[in-house]
Amino acid sequence: MSVQSAVRRKTAPDIHARKGGDPIVMLTSYHAHTAALVDRHCDVILVGDSLGNVMHGFDTTVPVTLDMMILQGRAVMRGSAHALVVVDMPFGSYEAAKEQAFHSAVRIMKETQCGAVKLEGGVRMAETVAFLAERGIPVMGHVGLTPQSINTLGSFRAQGREEGSWEPIEKDAQAIAQAGAFSIVIEAVAEPLARKITQSIAVPTIGIGASAACDGQVLVLEDMLGLSPRTPKFVRRYGDLGPAIEAAVGAYARDVRSRAFPGPEHVYGMKEKG
Ligand code: KIV
Repeated sequence: MSVQSAVRRKTAPDIHARKGGDPIVMLTSYHAHTAALVDRHCDVILVGDSLGNVMHGFDTTVPVTLDMMILQGRAVMRGSAHALVVVDMPFGSYEAAKEQAFHSAVRIMKETQCGAVKLEGGVRMAETVAFLAERGIPVMGHVGLTPQSINTLGSFRAQGREEGSWEPIEKDAQAIAQAGAFSIVIEAVAEPLARKITQSIAVPTIGIGASAACDGQVLVLEDMLGLSPRTPKFVRRYGDLGPAIEAAVGAYARDVRSRAFPGPEHVYGMKEKG
């Protein structure tokens, strides 16, 4: 007997087919509860290694492990039903060799049942992208600012600020697209460069701080909700949940301290004895 889910999740080929069409909506999520909310509106949910900064308070994504990504990937898969779930390959899990990348990606796909993985890097990762794609692993690329390289970059500054520095970034995007990536995140590059790349490759580009010239957009959910301690300057805020949560927690603490905390009788209508 075959068991088919009633809801068909979006797939990497669905997203690939959106090149030049309706803009692709993508957000990060690391938990079942936020995944369920994001799933109603997004084509793609990214279990980003930004969870290292956002959930764990690390300064960079470098300390994030494969086990951390798999744990949160499983939660996001449980919370969502429609969107394509893409799980980031963390620093150190894929750069050494294409075989290392394959084994890490297989663990991610088998243990989370997500639909694709994402990895950072351009020309230097093209062979690996082809190796994975040929073996049944859909890969989303990530070029421009690649936060896992922070220790060689030195800062999280936007990339390709002068026209003279565009060429390596264009070549990175082209190499990954030709290698078989189904879409490519472009992070922190100026609009003319994002437009040039988007026009020159056959797969959808998904921008973060890279202008509306891309085929889609991604943001870190907590950044756009006003929940992150440090938010990149380019992020448009769609909520201000930090102060709202703090006010709610403050109200709770005041109720507890003043013994104004409701007991079960308010819910169950219990009567006092005697
Ligand atoms: O880790 C992440 O959340 C990302 C996005 C910023 C694209 O890679």
